[in-house]
Amino acid sequence: MTCILQLGPLTDRFNRALAAEHEVLRLWEADADAMLDQHGNGVDIVVTSARFGCTASLIDRLPNLRAIISFGVGYDAIDVAAARARQIAVSNTPDVLNECVADLAFGMLIDCARQMSRADRFVRAGEWPSGGLPLASRVSGKRLGIVGLGRIGEAVAKRASGFDMQVRYHNRRPVEGSVHGYERDLVELARWSDFLVLTCPGGESTRNLIDMAVLEALGPKGMLINVARGSVVDEPALVQALLDGRLGGAALDVYAHEPHVPDALMALPNVVLLPHIGSATEETRLAMEELLWANLRTFLERGEVLTAV
Ligand code: DGY
Repeated sequence: MTCILQLGPLTDRFNRALAAEHEVLRLWEADADAMLDQHGNGVDIVVTSARFGCTASLIDRLPNLRAIISFGVGYDAIDVAAARARQIAVSNTPDVLNECVADLAFGMLIDCARQMSRADRFVRAGEWPSGGLPLASRVSGKRLGIVGLGRIGEAVAKRASGFDMQVRYHNRRPVEGSVHGYERDLVELARWSDFLVLTCPGGESTRNLIDMAVLEALGPKGMLINVARGSVVDEPALVQALLDGRLGGAALDVYAHEPHVPDALMALPNVVLLPHIGSATEETRLAMEELLWANLRTFLERGEVLTAV
């Protein structure tokens, strides 16, 4: 019988179904060290997520591991190099969440520009009868810079066309697709943009890509929208730029050390803070689960995964 090590809980429905079909070791419910000492040799497959990842040191403790099956598109928390060195298959759940994450990114952009969350707080605090809000920024017709034009970035660009926005993007190299304005220089893209949306992968290649120079170029009227990974932004620089007014605003779904959100961000009125909910809709989570199952079953039947990273 296949032995699956599940690193953290996914949906209740998934947890139950997995346990009904397989021998499952639930690492988060156990003394992890003791469990790995006792059962590590017998583990065939790890089931994890973008959040729980899979480190090289864990892989080392599973000498018979054959596959890491992950829930989520991002795999920056999985040591793919360590897995490859041992020919361990790694899968994620791409594409099925593109539209959902793009919806959120665009919603965050509008929220940040039009101060919707701030206005909501204002009404709930009973401030409407006695005061006013500062005027917001318009969205339609503005300039949108996308950092990381992959499938999610393309979906954001599609939404922007409905708002008559001009769109340019920065990648390491230009890509074929519906967006033509390639900008090699990220600072230049930030200078040109009213809104800079991050949809690039996390990991070492993009760590602190958005530094003070980029934030200053985006400027006191510019807004940063991050649905990628917290590691892409130099978070202390972001906090400083917002405090100094060198950056106009930000909408963040991801942070450097989740679930920690810097206190300074909490105190700022021009920042929208979300708890990493890019893919968190019923429809999308179900589609991600189905793709995870398809990867797991295909691996068990044929020794390969459908969506390898
Ligand atoms: C992903 O799939 O990588 C998301 O960030 C998780 O919500």
